[in-house]
Amino acid sequence: MGLRARITRPGIAARLLAWYSDHHRDLPWRRTSDPYRVWISEVMLQQTRAQAVIPYYERFVAQFPTLESLAGAREEQALAAWSGLGYYSRARNLLKAARLAVAAGGFPSDYDAIRGLPGVGDYTAAAVSSIAFGLPCAAVDGNALRVVSRVKNDASDIGSMATRRRFAETVTGWLDQRRPGDFNQALMELGATICLPRQPLCDECPIRDGCLAATAGSAAGLPVKLRKEDPLHIRATLFVVRRRGRVLLIREDSGARRMAGFWRLPTTEDLPGATPRERLGEFRHSITRHRYLFEVYASSGGLPACPAPTSAAAGACAWFSPAELPTIPLATTARKALNLAGIPRSS
Ligand code: ADE
Repeated sequence: MGLRARITRPGIAARLLAWYSDHHRDLPWRRTSDPYRVWISEVMLQQTRAQAVIPYYERFVAQFPTLESLAGAREEQALAAWSGLGYYSRARNLLKAARLAVAAGGFPSDYDAIRGLPGVGDYTAAAVSSIAFGLPCAAVDGNALRVVSRVKNDASDIGSMATRRRFAETVTGWLDQRRPGDFNQALMELGATICLPRQPLCDECPIRDGCLAATAGSAAGLPVKLRKEDPLHIRATLFVVRRRGRVLLIREDSGARRMAGFWRLPTTEDLPGATPRERLGEFRHSITRHRYLFEVYASSGGLPACPAPTSAAAGACAWFSPAELPTIPLATTARKALNLAGIPRSS
């Protein structure tokens, strides 16, 4: 071995892996390499932080322990198990994908087939391929983009496809071919616990020596993401209408752009004749660029004629007891408002 090779410090992958071995969080999906469970966890983690995912993941795999059990579920059951995690197309796609995979003979084991499942993009396909099957695929999420922008001290806009592609190539170059799953999770872990968006903990970083932004003092300002659209602020009213211990809910019809099949509280549009009796409070809720301020009122009057809850009619409505609430897909806004009304959704 020549002098150059002997004095070379360990590369990014080696340092990340050594750090990950000592510092990784004990998360439930890291105790398995069952592709089904890894896939469920990665889909849940697409838009939700690890700490928030833990109870949903544990409940979901307890209720649907295998691919086959999920494939045999009704959509209502899958949505109810997902209720509270948001972005419900993820649960619908999971169910579709489970049925397709079972029909094809089991969970796929190569990158292209995994990438072909509904709801699986480049990132999730690479994460599942590497963690469950040891395939050498770099999983590049927002955390990885942030780390690359800092290591390279590169202020290119990560909203641009060209930048993302270039940063993804950098991660592929770093990837440890023998432990790709651990490498990918190490990079995510670094982004989630050390290379934080606003206040990076550079003093604790295992790859600080190789990080140009840490040296330049520019880490906190990276990555650069140019803003496309301003948030939209919207005020709206929700009514809690009670009758004989039950509460009135409306089901979003199957043509709705969001939350089709979910039960929500009625709004002023649903109950134009309603009389607000008592103000129960307010809460904020964000969906994409929409920033809602919901005011919640106990109300009476203006009630619609409710068809049966099983009816597929647009805007079907029904009365539910608190005990029934955990069994239906309930919109997060309804849960927040019912909490204000002292009607918790017990499970
Ligand atoms: N975010 C996405 N995938 C993750 C994983 N496997 N562990 C922790 N955070 C993640």
